[in-house]
Amino acid sequence: MSLQITRGGSSEGSNPGGSIELAKATAIMERYTTWNANEALIPMMQEIQHEYGYIPDVLTALISETFDVPLTQIYGAATFYSDFRALPQAEHRVLLCEGLACYVCGSQELHRTVREKLGIDYGEATPDNKFILERANYCFGACQLMPMVEIDHTFYGNVTPEKLVELIDRTAQSEGHSSHDPE
Ligand code: FES
Repeated sequence: MSLQITRGGSSEGSNPGGSIELAKATAIMERYTTWNANEALIPMMQEIQHEYGYIPDVLTALISETFDVPLTQIYGAATFYSDFRALPQAEHRVLLCEGLACYVCGSQELHRTVREKLGIDYGEATPDNKFILERANYCFGACQLMPMVEIDHTFYGNVTPEKLVELIDRTAQSEGHSSHDPE
């Protein structure tokens, strides 16, 4: 198989975490061009994760295209091996509940608040890797406290935009992963 990587420089847009430098990924992939694609997949993904800290969507698509491996096979491998991550890692994770009750009672406003406060959207991390924003499309099981937010594994209910800004500020000032008391 000959490697034909047509993308160069950096990539951004739908890629979670914003733009990434593709040169390192292409160098990794070039080392596997003589391998059987099925045998190359896991070690190649391990190298990419080691380099980037996760497997960016854009590289999943590039591996699929370059090695003629179905996307479903790559996602299957990424799901099977729990070491693989689909999102960049950050010091703190803000998870907004977008279950139905929270969705109709304020989660959209909280989403807008985080975008304005931290400049990131779902699946993105701040440039200093301090925060990542994620969406939960499932119910946290506490609809009576909607809208719900989880920050670093601690749940908060009846969250207003003002309260969320306060929680983010408090989290930013904490050392490493926070362990706030549930509120
Ligand atoms: S929908 Fe958010 S807690 Fe139930």
